[in-house]
Amino acid sequence: MPAAGAGVRLGGEVPKALRELRGESLLAHAVKRAAAAPSVGLIVVAAPPQLLREVRELLAGVDAEVLVVAGGASRQESVAQALAVVPDGIEIVLVHDAARSLTPPELVESVITAVRAGHGAVIPVLPVVDTIKRVGPSDDVVATVDRSELRAVQTPQGFRREVLVKAHAEAGGEHTDDAGMVERLGLPVHCVPGSESALKITRPVDLIIAEALLAAAGEEIR
Ligand code: C5P
Repeated sequence: MPAAGAGVRLGGEVPKALRELRGESLLAHAVKRAAAAPSVGLIVVAAPPQLLREVRELLAGVDAEVLVVAGGASRQESVAQALAVVPDGIEIVLVHDAARSLTPPELVESVITAVRAGHGAVIPVLPVVDTIKRVGPSDDVVATVDRSELRAVQTPQGFRREVLVKAHAEAGGEHTDDAGMVERLGLPVHCVPGSESALKITRPVDLIIAEALLAAAGEEIR
């Protein structure tokens, strides 16, 4: 679980993972829900390096086996640091943004189920609701993209461990998600339905939406 981002777009004084939503950190929300998926046995958190102690403390009360390691300068590096300490014998690894704090356990489990069913890489996706246009350097529209072919991609993304390890070792370049690295290797990536509750808390408005989701669900986001 990469959680080492500064959260610049969200604003505020503390790193995003420690921002609170209804009295609990975004990170604790994410860890708690991921841990509630029946097949999850261990959660490795890549935390801001200067906050390892604080993060360990705030996760001490969570009912799950949790390891906290120092994250890196990019999301990709943070994932690599976490992947490096996953114990031998674990064959399925999910990568899940702490910023998708309200992701329901059912979505986590459905990604695992799809990997177990034989897919080496699995991503949760939603249809794109906006019309999307490609725009040139002078703000002129170049093209309207066919929306029916587009999907918005969420996490957790699930992998056979060897696929993810190979992707991190060989893909090179900067990627905004892990499945992109698998695609770079020419390997298949399978889509499963995502969840509106798995939104990435990035901008201030996302905190307001997350609050509203929690209120509407009476804390139990499912
Ligand atoms: O920046 P972005 O919104 O894509 O970040 C997605 C996730 O990656 C967040 O949970 C963030 O904490 C994490 N991240 C990280 N290490 C970084 C940058 C981002 O773990 N250096």
